Amino acid sequence: MSDSLDAELCVADCKRCPALVDSRSRIVNGTGPVDADLVFVGEAPGANEDEQGEPFVGRSGTVLDDALRDAGLARRDVRITNCVRCRPPENRDPTTEELSNCRGYLAEELRRLDPELVVTLGKVPSEHLLDRSVAVTSEAGDVFDARVGDTTHRLLVCVHPAATLYDRSQEETFQETIRQAAALAGVGPAGDGGDGQSRLGDY
Ligand code: URA
Repeated sequence: MSDSLDAELCVADCKRCPALVDSRSRIVNGTGPVDADLVFVGEAPGANEDEQGEPFVGRSGTVLDDALRDAGLARRDVRITNCVRCRPPENRDPTTEELSNCRGYLAEELRRLDPELVVTLGKVPSEHLLDRSVAVTSEAGDVFDARVGDTTHRLLVCVHPAATLYDRSQEETFQETIRQAAALAGVGPAGDGGDGQSRLGDY
């Protein structure tokens, strides 16, 4: 059942964005359990992700893995996906048109998974899903309702893990937001308080 949903959510081919068709080696689909309570949404695959076919496997992925571990979670406990599934040339930001072309895939993924919490990693996914400008550093840790396609999701803004590599002062903010995500989604030691119940209603 979950294997088949995972397969249904997998985009096998897409030619909507000519520049990305040229720059990608493969389409990088979301990974992780389809019954995950926590879904992380990044911007777009980089070189490592394009090579390995999995989101957040480069240096940013290591930062994310470390923060998950610090929050009592592992990568296998969460779903990780991106706004755009193909690597943009020279790692530029995806264009508005590319984000829009890929939005349906993400909307469907979120609708079918219906997680407790969506965590946006960085400015691009935060602005894309909230449909407004976001000052990520000051809004990190803030929770909003986001309408994506036909469904509304609880969304937590988080800085991008790569930000911690360029600005060490972002490290604590990032780790704290991941701990907060676990608590909000009711997963990991911080989240379930021993009774396995979601704490989302407490916030
Ligand atoms: N940065 C992203 O936003 N997504 C990835 O998959 C990797 C790095």
